Amino acid sequence: MRQTIIAGNWKMNASKEAVNTLLLGVLKGMMDVKSEVIVCVPYPYLCQAEALTTHSQLKIGAQNLNINISGAFTGEVSADMIKDFGVEYVIVGHSERRSLYGETNKIVARKVQVALDNGLTPLLCIGELLEEKESGNTKNAVARQINAVIERVGIESFKGVIIAYEPVWAIGTGITATPQQAQDTHAYIRELLAQNDENIAQSTSILYGGSMNPDNVDELIACKDIDGGLIGGASLKPDDFLRICKAG
Ligand code: 13P
Repeated sequence: MRQTIIAGNWKMNASKEAVNTLLLGVLKGMMDVKSEVIVCVPYPYLCQAEALTTHSQLKIGAQNLNINISGAFTGEVSADMIKDFGVEYVIVGHSERRSLYGETNKIVARKVQVALDNGLTPLLCIGELLEEKESGNTKNAVARQINAVIERVGIESFKGVIIAYEPVWAIGTGITATPQQAQDTHAYIRELLAQNDENIAQSTSILYGGSMNPDNVDELIACKDIDGGLIGGASLKPDDFLRICKAG
């Protein structure tokens, strides 16, 4: 039985004050939450977020990492540094990084490897573009994304990976995949894993992301292969985020 995981991705939204308000707001309502809950904050707030949530059920994650561990890479942050704050999770390959910062499937696979090698759990984001969906290429797109990572790290390593399926056309648009659309792609992703190892396919958590909110979370999470959510906009509203956390 896979545990429900709800992860928030604040993207580039926060301030010292907002970190306090948002995290304390969520922490206040966590007692009846059964899901595993992770909040991925911008780098400058990792320390503050980690301090506020120590010994709580709420875990903190980063949103990206560099493929190198140290050296002359101005402006970059390594897995080691993220680990140094006691942070356990990192988003890898978000569609915004793929489209705005040129992260290819190969780079994303290397990032997954670096995260795993350094004891971080990657939240590996995959998902098709609108054009790919409209041309009937959703399966091809997610297969390329997943297979690039399997080739790099091996299927065994997926024991330490969380997958987030985020159709790019559903991110920040208010358009959510229907439960059937999402379930079909989740089942396909699980099938891709199963082609390599059935047990790992069954134990890997596959989250849905893309305009998930308090109104649509229940029917999405009720789907057999949807194990939780990766939430953008709604994770910036503590009441909405808590409601989503309680759906699990
Ligand atoms: P929204 O929930 O705002 O659509 O964002 C989803 C997302 O990109 C999470 O990583």
